[in-house]
Amino acid sequence: MGTKLRVIPDCQHPGVPPPKVGSTLTEMRRAAATCKACDLWRTAIQTVFGEGRPGAVIMLVGEQPGDAEDRAGRPFVGPAGKLLDEALARAGINRNEVYVTNVVKHFKWSAAERGKRRIHKKPRDSEIAACRPWLDAELSAVRPRVLACLGATAAQSLLGKDFRVTQRRGREVPSPLAPHVVATVHPSSVLRARDDDSRRRQMEEFVRDLRYIGKLAKRAAA
Ligand code: URA
Repeated sequence: MGTKLRVIPDCQHPGVPPPKVGSTLTEMRRAAATCKACDLWRTAIQTVFGEGRPGAVIMLVGEQPGDAEDRAGRPFVGPAGKLLDEALARAGINRNEVYVTNVVKHFKWSAAERGKRRIHKKPRDSEIAACRPWLDAELSAVRPRVLACLGATAAQSLLGKDFRVTQRRGREVPSPLAPHVVATVHPSSVLRARDDDSRRRQMEEFVRDLRYIGKLAKRAAA
């Protein structure tokens, strides 16, 4: 993780010193571990920073860690992560070559009415905004050629509130964030499909979008 940060975006982090110009991803991860820029640190086990190759051509951005990620301290290692791994493999993309992160780096949850389950809660705009300097710092360090938003939360926070994944998925979106920017669905939406047939169809569509992302990456890296 030796890649140097080229630009530090406007990073104002109450409660934690912002990553310094020249920080490596490892240094950023260490600094983010004590982030208190919003209140989510109070109920999460730990910060789940992005992971992957520092010079990755592709960066995938999800919403926030889930229960399994909060316990493991790594993004996309739970059920949605397993589905993502399968879809990436089918699309011919090696996860080890990709940088994977989230717009929010703490798990937001509420207790289930019965039992001990922690139920995912959608992050607020203020929580997404508080976490944004970390994502900007990751973007500056990794400088992906292809940025892919997984799901509406990531797409709307990076591409605008009006962005509709259902209408614009799987196609390039003009954006200053990376040379090629694409949005697709979140893998958990495939897991939530109402029956096997629609799950199979949604998985095919997800793999198709990832193949397109892989094609853009190959072209960009050539
Ligand atoms: N969902 C996400 O958006 N990110 C993760 O890391 C896991 C589940």
